[in-house]
Amino acid sequence: MVPTSSKWVLGLFLVLAVAAVSEAQLSETFYRLKCPGGPAKVAETVKTWIARDKTLAPGLLRLHFHDCFVRGCDASVLLDGSNGEKFAAGNKNSLRGFNVIDDIKAKVEAICPGVVSCADILTLAARDATLLIGGSNWSVPLGRRDGIVTSKAEADANLPSFNANFATLRNAFSSKGLNVSDLVALSGSHTVGFASCGVMQGRLYGFNSTVKTDPALNSTFASTLKNLCKQGDFTTLIKMDLSKSVDTWDANYYSNVMNGRALFTSDDQLRRNSAGLSVVQSLRKSPSPFNRAFGAAMVKMGRIGVLTGTSGQIRKKCNVKN
Ligand code: HEM
Repeated sequence: MVPTSSKWVLGLFLVLAVAAVSEAQLSETFYRLKCPGGPAKVAETVKTWIARDKTLAPGLLRLHFHDCFVRGCDASVLLDGSNGEKFAAGNKNSLRGFNVIDDIKAKVEAICPGVVSCADILTLAARDATLLIGGSNWSVPLGRRDGIVTSKAEADANLPSFNANFATLRNAFSSKGLNVSDLVALSGSHTVGFASCGVMQGRLYGFNSTVKTDPALNSTFASTLKNLCKQGDFTTLIKMDLSKSVDTWDANYYSNVMNGRALFTSDDQLRRNSAGLSVVQSLRKSPSPFNRAFGAAMVKMGRIGVLTGTSGQIRKKCNVKN
């Protein structure tokens, strides 16, 4: 008879061993023999799309984040279905780049049918897109497989809100194995891309019962935002980093956070905690370690809850399970 405490230890050991194996199964050379041209085909296709429309790059980056935070990086965000993740509050009418992923998948299937997962395509595309808009390179561990379940409810529960405070953000990230440095580094991608005026309504016009506009916003910046996003406008898109006329990949986000010029409460909250503040300040320095920190955090994010080995499947089309 094994005592209960020993069973616990044995159970914990097994859980850790399984986690270690699935992590070990991701490898930068995973497709070297199975589909040597696969990763290059992803890069080539991303390049073609971004040459036509540079704003797709932030869309692809965000797609990967929203995939990984719900059921792990298993391409569940791509699956169709009215109760699926695409319909979650943070995704609906907001996530972009699905057509790019479908096109990449078709092109990769043409050279290696049934080999390269949609989850790996999302991960590679996020890196390739970042590179094409001026980010630095990082090596992408590969070998993820695709899930077969997508859930709107799980997306609603797992994707942090733009209104989240620091503790909520820290908990959301730590529940995925990411720390405060990862949270701050990854949030730096808010240096590119677009947000909807709908997201800004609360901060600009309904902060609380007595104060209309969030006092954390720089007052000149709040006026600029009010000009761009009128009360009741839920659709106009504005640039995430309004301090520059053309989007560039840089550490400017951290200066915006410090100056009350970042768009969301979740951005502003990064400076409201001493641990968050110290990371913001270090990434704000010039020259900034942002690119290195970002790449390392993306690799960590890309390992969340991955399916490997014989788990899941390799979808033939990314929007439906086989
Ligand atoms: C920390 C919690 C985060 C919150 C609350 C948050 C929230 C948001 C919101 C509300 C938008 C605007 C969406 C819209 O109005 O359509 C947005 C855009 C964006 N987010 Fe985040 N985000 C977070 C973290 C991240 C992370 C970790 C990444 C990537 C690694 C990321 C990448 C982006 C990008 C690239 C855009 C622009 C998307 C586009 O142009 O289509 N965000 N985010």
